[in-house]
Amino acid sequence: MVTFADLYDDRFGLAPATQGPTAVSTEALAPLLGRRTCRAYTSEPIAPGLMEALLACAQSAPSKSDLQQYSIVVVEDAGQRQALAALAPSASWIADAPAVLVFCADIARSRRITELRGHGYAANSQDSFVNASVDAGLAMLACLLAAERVGLGGCPISVVRNRIADVSALLALPPGVYPVMGLTLGHPAETPPASMRLPPAIVVHRDRYDSTNLADELAGYDDRRHARQPVPPEKQRHTDRYGVREVCPWSENVARQLSLPERADFREFLLVAGFDLA
Ligand SMILES: Cc1cc2nc3c(=O)[nH]c(=O)nc-3n(C[C@H](O)[C@H](O)[C@H](O)COP(=O)(O)O)c2cc1C
Repeated sequence: MVTFADLYDDRFGLAPATQGPTAVSTEALAPLLGRRTCRAYTSEPIAPGLMEALLACAQSAPSKSDLQQYSIVVVEDAGQRQALAALAPSASWIADAPAVLVFCADIARSRRITELRGHGYAANSQDSFVNASVDAGLAMLACLLAAERVGLGGCPISVVRNRIADVSALLALPPGVYPVMGLTLGHPAETPPASMRLPPAIVVHRDRYDSTNLADELAGYDDRRHARQPVPPEKQRHTDRYGVREVCPWSENVARQLSLPERADFREFLLVAGFDLA
């Protein structure tokens, strides 16, 4: 029987501060504590009944003010999937995944509903943008966790935003709708290792935010993570600029990624797509 200490060690490379929950609770939490992203699938399709249930789970996610400001585009047509894969080449498994869902923030429907009721729409704001984006993310997570619970694997795909205008055109997204992320789902053809997380000591704050221990805790995390999950040369970021390191700690790779802007056209796209970010 798996213990909380085992699960905690897999996730953090640390011993928990307490004995953890009861054995019954540990068993119930184990699928979430041990979850991992899966990027390779068998060719077995997802049964339509299961897909309907997973979409219902997605729609069971909480949503800000119950506004439900997101849409899900289920990409099943083979040609459409190939076209989507071509727009996100670093996520090549999109082409072969039995199911690809694209979770979109959607304030277009909110506008229409307001107008259908005869009111003027006055909620196009940064706050609505965040609310709709968070709603889309929560729906994606509910879908992913439900899929993992029934033995499927999945991977969220933010690279659908790399060519966001092309992806939006492909999916016929109207103004007021943008793709926050995709989600590939399928029957797992790999068992990836658990990805070690930052220590709760720097992520979880008690009563007030305090980051004085960041550098020390980060050094320990880098060491623990490198021991279990070293960053191989092909996953080291921007090697043309920074070179390949024999030991590339997580924080080095993150810093490399964040040292250059990504998706610099995103704000411009959103403005053109009708999101008021003023
Ligand atoms: C919003 C979001 C977008 C993501 N986009 C991608 C992506 O475009 N490509 C990819 O390979 N993984 C993507 N991921 C998966 C993360 O890389 C993965 O969750 C992370 O490495 C931790 O691994 P784990 O989920 O197995 O614990 C994304 C995850 C999230 C939450």
